[in-house]
Amino acid sequence: MARETEMHICLGSSCFSRGNKDVVVFIRDYLKKNHLEDKVIFKGGRCMGHCSNGPNLKINEVIKEGVTISKIEGILDQELAKFK
Ligand code: FES
Repeated sequence: MARETEMHICLGSSCFSRGNKDVVVFIRDYLKKNHLEDKVIFKGGRCMGHCSNGPNLKINEVIKEGVTISKIEGILDQELAKFK
């Protein structure tokens, strides 16, 4: 079985103003809908130092930049495919 994945979304003010809140809601719903809540650890994180490219999402140790609501589904489909 694939190892757990850990995701942290930046909750810093710059990522907030770029729409991280909608992304959080989307990710929570996605994990629920796909029964991934026990396989994916999803938490808020501090500023990742890439503020002007936010919203930023760290998946394991890799930072994904510009994770907007229009891109998040594709990223999750790709990153979490191993669990499906
Ligand atoms: S506020 Fe998100 S990277 Fe700085």
